[in-house]
Formats: sequence, C-alpha cells, structure tokens
Amino acid sequence: MYTLGEFIIENKDGYSHSKESLLRFFSSIKLAAKAVHKEVNKAGLTKNIGSSGKKNIQGENQQKLDFFSHKTFIDSFKSREVVCGIASEESRDFIIIDKKINNPIEDQYIVLIDPLDGSSNIDVNVSIGTIFSVYKMKYTNKCKLTINDFLQKGNQQIIAGYIIYGTSTMLVYTTGNGVHGFTLDPSIGTFYLSHPNISFPEKEKIYSINDGNYVKFSNGIKKFIRYCQEEYENRPYTARYIGSLVGDFHRNIIHGGIYMYPKTSLFPNGKLRLLYECNPIAFLTEQAGGKASNGYKRILDIQPASLHQRTPFICGPNKMVNKLEEFIKKYE
Ligand code: AHG
Ligand code: MN
Ligand code: MN
Repeated sequence: MYTLGEFIIENKDGYSHSKESLLRFFSSIKLAAKAVHKEVNKAGLTKNIGSSGKKNIQGENQQKLDFFSHKTFIDSFKSREVVCGIASEESRDFIIIDKKINNPIEDQYIVLIDPLDGSSNIDVNVSIGTIFSVYKMKYTNKCKLTINDFLQKGNQQIIAGYIIYGTSTMLVYTTGNGVHGFTLDPSIGTFYLSHPNISFPEKEKIYSINDGNYVKFSNGIKKFIRYCQEEYENRPYTARYIGSLVGDFHRNIIHGGIYMYPKTSLFPNGKLRLLYECNPIAFLTEQAGGKASNGYKRILDIQPASLHQRTPFICGPNKMVNKLEEFIKKYE
C-alpha cells in the first residue's frame, strides 16, 4: 500500500510541475493535519471546544478550533519554503511570506484555505474538515505578490483537496489527474492510499441541502427538492445533510449525490466562499467526473472579485446538476 509520500515520488498522481515543491507542500499539509487530528480527537477533554469569543471577517463566531487550525496550517506552510502567499477564511487580508519569495526552488505556491470547515459541528462530535486550494504565482515579478495572485479563476488551480476528521482522518486530493484518498493510520502517523481514483458512482442516490431554509429558496430549488422526493424511476432520493461541506461532499462523492447551498432570501449570494470552499470542491468534483455550478455557470470559470466572496454552490454527478440547472432555467 502506497504512503502519500511514495505515491508522489512515483508520480502516481501525474503531477506535471515540480515534484520537490509538491513533496514540500504535502509535508506541511500532513504535519498540520496530524496536529489538528490530534486536537480534534481529544476536543471534549480539553478546553479547545466552544467559541473563542471573537468574530471572523465574515462576522461569524470564531470557534477555538477554527483559530487553532488556522494557526497550525499557516505555521506549517511558513516553514516548508514552498508557499509564498496564503489567504485564509479566518484572516481578513492575505499573508505574504516575504523571505520565501526569492527562494530558488522551482514552484512557489499561493494557498487558499478553509482551516476548519463545519465549525458548528465541533462541539457535537460530528465530522469536520480542512479545505485547501493551490495556485502558482501569477506574476513573474516574484517580488510583487498582489491581490491578483489570490484572485485567480478556479480553473487555474494546480492542487486542491481536503482533510476530513471523521470516523477516520482522510486526506483527499487532486492535481488534475483524478482524485485520490489516503487514510491516516494514527498509530504511526502515516497516510496510506486507501481510495485510489475516486469517482461519482453511476447511480445517483442522495440529495443534500439545508431543508430548513425551504421557504427562503427560489422556485427552481423548491421544485427540484420536490422532484428529488417524487416516487418515480430511481427516486425518491435519500436526504442527507450534515452541515459540514467536507463531510457532505465526501459522502456524496462515494455514494453518489448532489450537494446544494443555493442563494436564499437571507444569503442572496449564497453562503459558501468561492475561494476557500467552492473552487477546491469544484475542482475535485470535476476530477471525479461530476459538475459544479452556481446554477447558471461553471464555478471554475468565475472571476473572483474579492477574497471572501460568496457564491451559490451546487456540485455532484453531471446528471443531477444538469437536472437542477434545467429547473432553475425553467422556474426562475
Ligand atoms: P465554516 O464552518 O467553514 O464556516 O463552513 C460552514 C459551511 C459549510 O461547511 C456547511 O456546508 C455550511 O456552512 C452549513 O451551513 P448551514 O448551517 O447554513 O446549513
Ligand atoms: Mn467552511
Ligand atoms: Mn471554516
């Protein structure tokens, strides 16, 4: 069974850029993921659950583990000399790692991260995650990292992935040649390839949406929910919604299902963040043979205008996403 390191060294992920940079990057991801895994696993015993008493840039209550995870990943990126700029859901501005910018190693990465996804599930022992997205520096003038390096379209991503802290801890990623999943053996601290070439199964089964927002949805979404519940052909689908995008997506990619966080009357631009959540999950979705859309347009083709911008988000097997887009076109 391959370890993650062996998998990269043997180029099993088909990565076409610098292997050294990729190894350095995953060395920092693995270290931080293990530190967060350890903390998450004993969260009920320590003082690391609950609110930090602060609000993040989105005005949402920051949990202690949100901050712990943010700091752990940032510190780990800083020490591996491969990341030159970071934007995090938990930080207002992007962070430049100055001393690394003139580093001679081949690729320097821009990383965008949701350090802890599914914060509302921390205190109740339900799966949470970390989502990451990597771009190359946009400008050849390496001394001038600007906001434009961070506002690249999702179709420019070179790596995307997530860590799920669930019944086991897994790291799932793509470099544009399929989606591969590794499970942490916590007894020796090693990630082993357990899920090579993940793709959506043929048969769709599940729909995932926060149904409590039903009255706030547009007509197209309401009609689609009713369609999912109709008894016809292979419907009704099963409803499953955790409230952690990583957990909901991980289940849907394995069992076959659509995830939706559409606009609502409360969140007219949707709730999820384009750069930290939707783009990386959209890249993984497409690499697993699915489709990710805002209802009208491919997520990966949206030109971001600001770091913390939100977007309506739909991802899943092609057939289901196409059907939902049909409903949106017809009823909105
Ligand atoms: P985060 O914890 O990073 O702020 O993300 C929470 C997101 C996402 O993970 C989840 O799918 C969604 O918010 C749940 O929102 P609702 O509680 O409104 O359903
Ligand atoms: Mn999130
Ligand atoms: Mn988060």
